[in-house]
Amino acid sequence: MKGVILAGGSGTRLRPLTTVVNKHLLPVGKFPMIHYSLEKLHSAGIREVMIVTGAQSIGLYAAYIGSGAERGMKVHYAVQDEAGGIAQALGLAESFIGDDEKFIVLLGDNLFEDSLDPFVKKYESQSSGAMVLLKEVEDPRRYGVAELDGGRITSIEEKPEHPKSNYSVTGIYMYDPEVFDIVRRIKPSARGELEITDVNNVYAEAGTLTYDVLEGWWTDAGTHESLREAADRLSKDDGENGK
Ligand code: G1P
Repeated sequence: MKGVILAGGSGTRLRPLTTVVNKHLLPVGKFPMIHYSLEKLHSAGIREVMIVTGAQSIGLYAAYIGSGAERGMKVHYAVQDEAGGIAQALGLAESFIGDDEKFIVLLGDNLFEDSLDPFVKKYESQSSGAMVLLKEVEDPRRYGVAELDGGRITSIEEKPEHPKSNYSVTGIYMYDPEVFDIVRRIKPSARGELEITDVNNVYAEAGTLTYDVLEGWWTDAGTHESLREAADRLSKDDGENGK
């Protein structure tokens, strides 16, 4: 399986740290944030990865990661010209993925403990549709929230006032290439962006959105507080986090 790391966005909630530095290059423990996504993919056996980020930052990623050879990986890069949303960024990976292979997508600011290996294996054996990873949280209103029915997700509400469960949708998604048609079909949200939750809801409505739940800690390091929390958890890490 190939992997896609979405590392764009303007990092508004982390200003002024992100005024000149892209969020996913900020230090978390001993490494820039992007390191941890690459490491998680590598330890799940994924060797070919595309990083999608803004034009201003792409040179910095190339300087830090290069071709990926040092990590035993092949790393490709794509530029998202404007902040058009997570789903738009995902659409840029279409030619990298091709039309016959399932793949995994990570939001680069999602830092977590679990190994991806068992989830990737489980999704590989799923006959069709998509799979997302959930995490039980105390404050679901900050996230996309899943409504569950048996082994399926029936709908996802983005940052709801009255969440239907405590299961937040993490930024760990697995898709088949059909997702690129879905990205083309969805319309921009009120904030003018193509939302990943709208993509996932197409699968949910079709009854083909499965899930699994992270057991270990998980944080979306998009705020000063959660970035500090992630740094505390990862500061003793020697690079192979998840052990
Ligand atoms: C995005 C998704 C949201 C998800 C979150 C996980 O939100 O839209 O559904 O729960 O990532 O990190 P954002 O962090 O862009 O507000």
